[in-house]
Amino acid sequence: MPAAVNTGLLYRAGRPLIFCMAPERAHDVVLASLKNAHALGLSGLLASHPPDDPVDVMGIRFPNRVGLAAGLDKNGDYIEALAALGFGFLEIGTVTPRPQPGNPKPRMFRLVSRQALINRLGFNNKGLDHVLQRLEATRFDGVLGVNIGKNKDTPNRDAVKDYLTGLEAVFPHASYITVNISSPNTEGLRDLQQADPLTDLLAALVEKRNALARESDRQVPLALKIAPDLTPAELQSVAQVINQSGVEAVIATNTTLDRQAVAGLPHGEEAGGLSGAPLFERATEVLRSMRAALRPELSLIGVGGIVNGANAVSKLQAGADLVQIYTGLIYRGPELVGEIGRAIHAAELGR
Ligand SMILES: Cc1cc2nc3c(=O)[nH]c(=O)nc-3n(C[C@H](O)[C@H](O)[C@H](O)COP(=O)(O)O)c2cc1C
Repeated sequence: MPAAVNTGLLYRAGRPLIFCMAPERAHDVVLASLKNAHALGLSGLLASHPPDDPVDVMGIRFPNRVGLAAGLDKNGDYIEALAALGFGFLEIGTVTPRPQPGNPKPRMFRLVSRQALINRLGFNNKGLDHVLQRLEATRFDGVLGVNIGKNKDTPNRDAVKDYLTGLEAVFPHASYITVNISSPNTEGLRDLQQADPLTDLLAALVEKRNALARESDRQVPLALKIAPDLTPAELQSVAQVINQSGVEAVIATNTTLDRQAVAGLPHGEEAGGLSGAPLFERATEVLRSMRAALRPELSLIGVGGIVNGANAVSKLQAGADLVQIYTGLIYRGPELVGEIGRAIHAAELGR
C-alpha cells in the first residue's frame, strides 16, 4: 500500500532530526509542523489510514477502534490535523478548570532503547476557557473525548468541584468525557481512586451528567481512567465502585510509577510516569482483571504500551473494545495508526 510506505519512510527519515531535540521541544515542533502540513492539504501524505471498521461502543459509532490517548493534545489545538492521521477517535486534555504551567522543565525523557517515555508534566494546560474556544471553533465532527482533571492547588476535599466544573463546561462538545484520577504527577490525585472518595466523585458526576443529558436530550458517556499501579485488592474495590456508579467505561491504563523494566537505563530513575513498551504487560493485566470484574455492559478502552499491531490485538483479546496510543506514535510515527487498524481488522475477520 503506497500511502503506508510513504508514511513509514517519511517518519523514519525525520525521526533522527526530531530525536535530536529535547522531547518537549520535539513535541511542540512536530505538532506545529503537522498543523501546517494539514493547513496546506498535505497531512494525507503522512497518514496511513486504517480500514473502515465501524463499531458501536458506549452508544457511539466509532469509524475504527484506534484512538489517540489523552495528553498529546492537552488543549485541543491540533484536533483537525491529528484527525487527518486516520484515528477513529481523539481524546484531548487533560484540561483543568484554570490554566496551570505544570512542573519545572525538563520533565519529559526518552528511553529510546525501550520505546518508552517518562514524563512528569503535571497537567500543564491552558485551562477550560481556552479548550472551550477550541471546541467551539473545530470543524471536526468525528468522535472526540475530553479528559478532565483538577488543578494542582485544589485540595482533594474540593476535587469534586473541579471535576463538576469541567464536566459542565465540556458536556455540549464532547462525544464522551474521561475522568482522570490516575496521573502520577499531581500529588495525591491517585488517592481519589480509594473507595470512599471515588464513590462520592462518581455519584456527583453521574448525577450532573444525567441532569445535563435530560436538559439537552444528548447522551454523553463517562469513562474513568485508572492507574496501572493498583494492587489486585484495590482493583477489585475500584471495579465494585464503578459497577454501581452509572459510568459507562473504563480506560486502562495511565502511566506507571514502577521502574523495574527500565532499571539501570539512562533516565530510568527519573520521577514521573513511565509509558510505552515496558508498560504493556502490566496495563494489559489490569485491563484483563477489569474485564473480569466489571459488569459486561461496561466498555473498556485499552491503552499502555501499544507499539505495534499485535499489541493492539492483544488488548482486544484481554477485553478492550477500543484502544488508544501515545508513546507508540512518538516512536513509530503515524504509520502505527494504519498498522493497528489493519491488524485489528484482520483479527476480527479471523474470529
Ligand atoms: C507525555 C505524556 C503526557 C500525558 N498526559 C496525559 C494527560 O494529560 N492525561 C491523561 O489522562 N493521560 C496522559 N498521559 C497518559 C497516556 O494517555 C497513556 O495513558 C499512557 O501514556 C500509556 O499509553 P502509551 O504507552 O501508549 O503511551 C500522558 C502520557 C505521556 C507520555
